[in-house]
Amino acid sequence: MTDEQQVTLTGNAPAKSKPVKKNKAEEMALKQRDIGVAEFFARNRHLLGFDNKRKALMTTIKEAVDNSLDACEEAQIQPEIIVEIIDLGNERFRVIVEDNGPGIIKKQVPKIFAKLLYGSKFHSLKQSRGQQGIGISASVMYGQLTTGKPSKIMSKIGPTHQAYYCELKLDTQTNGPDIQHEKLMEWEGKDHGTRIEIDLEANYIGGNQSIDEYLKQTAIVNPHATIIYTNPKAQQFIFPRATELMPPKAMEIKPHPYGVELGFMMDMLKTTSAKTLQQFLSTEFSRVSSTTAKTICLNASVQPNIKPLDMSRELVESLMTGIKNTKIIAPPTDCIQPIGADLFEKGLRKEVNAEFYCASTRPPSVYRGNPFVVEASIAYGGSLPPEGSARLLRYANRVPLLYQLSAGAVSKSAMSTAWKNYGLSQSKGSLPTGPIVIAVHIASVWVPFTSESKEAIAHYPEIMKEMKLAIQECGRKLGSYVKKKKRVGDELKKRSLIEKYIPHVSEALIELIGLSSNEKILIESNLGQILENKRGVIEDMKFDASKNKDFDETYAMNTQNSEEMVDEDTDTIIEQKKTEESEINKLKNNSENENKGGDAE
Ligand SMILES: Nc1ncnc2c1ncn2[C@@H]1O[C@H](COP(=O)(O)OP(=O)(O)O)[C@@H](O)[C@H]1O
Ligand SMILES: [Mg+2]
Repeated sequence: MTDEQQVTLTGNAPAKSKPVKKNKAEEMALKQRDIGVAEFFARNRHLLGFDNKRKALMTTIKEAVDNSLDACEEAQIQPEIIVEIIDLGNERFRVIVEDNGPGIIKKQVPKIFAKLLYGSKFHSLKQSRGQQGIGISASVMYGQLTTGKPSKIMSKIGPTHQAYYCELKLDTQTNGPDIQHEKLMEWEGKDHGTRIEIDLEANYIGGNQSIDEYLKQTAIVNPHATIIYTNPKAQQFIFPRATELMPPKAMEIKPHPYGVELGFMMDMLKTTSAKTLQQFLSTEFSRVSSTTAKTICLNASVQPNIKPLDMSRELVESLMTGIKNTKIIAPPTDCIQPIGADLFEKGLRKEVNAEFYCASTRPPSVYRGNPFVVEASIAYGGSLPPEGSARLLRYANRVPLLYQLSAGAVSKSAMSTAWKNYGLSQSKGSLPTGPIVIAVHIASVWVPFTSESKEAIAHYPEIMKEMKLAIQECGRKLGSYVKKKKRVGDELKKRSLIEKYIPHVSEALIELIGLSSNEKILIESNLGQILENKRGVIEDMKFDASKNKDFDETYAMNTQNSEEMVDEDTDTIIEQKKTEESEINKLKNNSENENKGGDAE
């Protein structure tokens, strides 16, 4: 070994040598750094529901409307929401959403609209539409990424206050607000509320996954709200509130011990202000009284008076076993506000003019310690298209879910229901076919969505089971109707056959017993009477389109498309086609040029 090598190996730099070449791990270390939340989501905007221009428009409206409804409910104000979309040309749209909610204080506005993962709902277990704190700020970010423009926000918190107005962007490096302009101003004719204006690149398309449809369905499952909507074609739709009754204010609950995992329990123990384990258990969890807390400690073989901070990993492990071995009442369920079977069915009546309706609300149930309620409603027959796949409507905490129709717990539950039992045809593993609309709603303190874009519900077995039971309850009622209708249909067929023979029988009788031909009418009427007496009176089950008084043309459902289960993305397909075409053209041009070049040579 040379001297130089020895020096290098001992770690002392040789006097005059070239810079030491870094090894790969050191080189890589130079590139390793934090990834900002906002830069992550700017690049992965599809995770937030911004994967194409059409969806971007829908997501923006949905987030804003969800927030307005949540805020109004929290403040117990009857919501009045104005939604307007203006076509600015060149695939740019302006979205304006204004509410009469409690407003937002000046200090909070920038963070709410220009910071991802900032909100009031994430840390509380309470039924609400938003939960991740990522909704509206993502729309602001998308707007600025696609148009370069800031969003304009105005909010007023009371009649004696001035409104706060600002124009802001989200700094994707810091995930924080970049306020471009702000002022206090008068907001004429408004006591309190919030108005947002976002310019964004988007695409407006009608149909089952359109904003028109989303707002209509929102009005149906939120009968306490008035929604005034102007679409980009300047058509205005007014959905007036159908009830003056506000849904009761959502109650917040504490986590249930059965739903908490070990790591989370360790975090809770670190941050609690409780002095002892027993106190920690009885104050931080729902359904744990002081006595239950003591029993848990006993079953866990841990001292009830141990300090929470002294709980080692091993002790928490025992605590978890203790919880498992203690019988604890299920979490309270009065915190869940379902729509209610009657209103849910009424909603469907507004939308479709069918001949049969039913609905059912299941008793509350629990998944991972979170209480939830499932309700289902069915409309059948009447003006619904007799052929094609059933239409499935899904809702979570009163929000219609329009995308990923074939994914998620609702579709899976509906598809795995044996609809043949209820007199409908169904191919294995798909929705039934026939004139039927199936609506399913889940209300929970925490809806487990499969992604941040909140489009489909995760397949928790407890949730799937409740969904299936709710669908089956409705299915059974539907089954008896369908079977009765079939019986009546068969009977009518038989009768018409027999009736066909009455004139022949009467003629034969006239001949046989030598009656005068004048008596033919009397004989025929008597024979008809005998037929009726023998076979009994049958119920008139003919569809009467004027019978459903709730049916409302404004809400009338677009029942044309049954292909929506494919969850087809027109935007993507159009864009794909465009690129394919331009690529083919490019190839053509290239080969033509090459040929020309060849000729020239
Ligand atoms: N229109 C509004 N009126 C009053 N408060 C609002 C409004 N919009 C949003 N907020 C507040 O801003 C927070 C963040 O909203 P958002 O980013 O959509 O997240 P999330 O709704 O999931 O909490 C909400 O939790 C709520 O406290
Ligand atoms: Mg929200």
